[in-house]
Amino acid sequence: MMTTVKINEKSPQSTIAPEIYGHFSEHLGRCIYEGIFVRPDSGIPNVNGMRTDVVEALRELKVPVLRWPGGCFADEYHWMDGIGPKETRKKMINTHWGGVTEDNSFGTHEYFELCRQLGCKTYVNGNVGSGSVREMSEWVEYMTFPGLSPMAELRAKNGHPDPWRVDYFGVGNENWGCGGNMTPEYYANLYRRYQTYVRHYDNAAPLKKICCGANVDDDNWTENVLRTCFKFPQPDEAHGFMDGLSLHYYVHPGGWKHKGSALDFDENVYYTTMKKALYMEDLINLHGAVMDKYDPEKQIGMIVDEWGSWYDVEPGTNPGFLYQQNTVRDALIAAVTLNIFNNHSDRVKMACLAQMVNVLQAVILTEGPKMLLTPTYHVMHMYKGHQGGLLLPTEVVDGGTVGAGESVVPRLNVSASQKDGTVTVTAANLSLTEKTQVELRFDELIPAGAQAVVLSGEVHAHNTFDDPDAVAERKLDVRCDGHTVTFTLPACGVAAVTLK
Ligand code: AHR
Repeated sequence: MMTTVKINEKSPQSTIAPEIYGHFSEHLGRCIYEGIFVRPDSGIPNVNGMRTDVVEALRELKVPVLRWPGGCFADEYHWMDGIGPKETRKKMINTHWGGVTEDNSFGTHEYFELCRQLGCKTYVNGNVGSGSVREMSEWVEYMTFPGLSPMAELRAKNGHPDPWRVDYFGVGNENWGCGGNMTPEYYANLYRRYQTYVRHYDNAAPLKKICCGANVDDDNWTENVLRTCFKFPQPDEAHGFMDGLSLHYYVHPGGWKHKGSALDFDENVYYTTMKKALYMEDLINLHGAVMDKYDPEKQIGMIVDEWGSWYDVEPGTNPGFLYQQNTVRDALIAAVTLNIFNNHSDRVKMACLAQMVNVLQAVILTEGPKMLLTPTYHVMHMYKGHQGGLLLPTEVVDGGTVGAGESVVPRLNVSASQKDGTVTVTAANLSLTEKTQVELRFDELIPAGAQAVVLSGEVHAHNTFDDPDAVAERKLDVRCDGHTVTFTLPACGVAAVTLK
């Protein structure tokens, strides 16, 4: 079977914000502790506590932005407990995630050190649910005030005289749920108040404020929140009330209560998973339509700051730690989701995969000193050429559908972009069993050469600490002929083709 993908390279569209390839790291299970940050006596090579192996692997992904400290944890996090000498830092119970003791040894200074090592932008999520306006305001002062002030002096006393740069600041997380169980009207008024005291101390690099958006398809939340707190800057003001509105959506194949196994699933569950992953596009259209009403010029971004698969935890692991394996199915979830974000990059300005290490759809898993890269890691790696590119319109001609039962989905899912004279095309074949011939057809471009990599395998295939490269990127043969480029995409295959 041959599928043609028409690519209109003459009409580049929106810029694909690099932040669409962002990550999320919460104080949850073994994400921060063990996964990223290790104790000096752990014997695991590290720089200032950050695992060298993990940081090196993440640098290969060109991580553009990292969201921290939560998640649900953000709305019970009190930042002052996480600064100063480690021996005296106050401990707390991580009530959301396993009821374990959080010793606050990873705090503000450690977060900025991690971002420095990764070379990424910063996205700090503040506490509205159980924190005060003053607490939030002082955190922003502590992190960013360049002059003489009580918080700047405290920062200097704790070893960092220079302010850091906060690129994004979230005013609460999931305030419709774990962040305070608020109504949209109540949150929207709180948002107006809290964000007032999130000051821009660095005029050259004002921080971008993110308002808490909807859970899945709750467009009533979007409507009510925007009605109350959407505001463009007035003529005498430099800033409006918000720069972005978040959206959270997870793929649970079996539903919220019985999510299903990460490793053990049948054909029906596979196609249901794909259908649920593709639902991201409906959600962007749903909430995007409400945002368009208030912001037709798309000045604020949709910030999908939590997305990914969420299964039952691996048997025998702490249910509060959300540790799951990651198969070729997850690679396909990542591939179609990132294609959707690229294709909606006029509105989607950031997205953070949940979560970076050892939690949910992680790109890295660790076990003591061992580390492995998951199939999802490889997709993020293959797609990194899209970061900062100009979206090119694509049209799949006669791609057909695949599926089982009620879950029927388009066979091929694609996106394309152009940057610095290079075109990147990414494609996923969702068929469980059939390979497909793909023909990329350009309007005018006659590629001088093409290179491609592919990730594929039996849909349950995954990497283990004994066999860490069972699923990995491999070279893919492509043929250039005039305006067309052809290749064979295996069943459950993801390809990234770069052309000059
Ligand atoms: O990513 C895990 C949790 O999912 C986050 O803490 C929360 O925001 C969401 O419900």
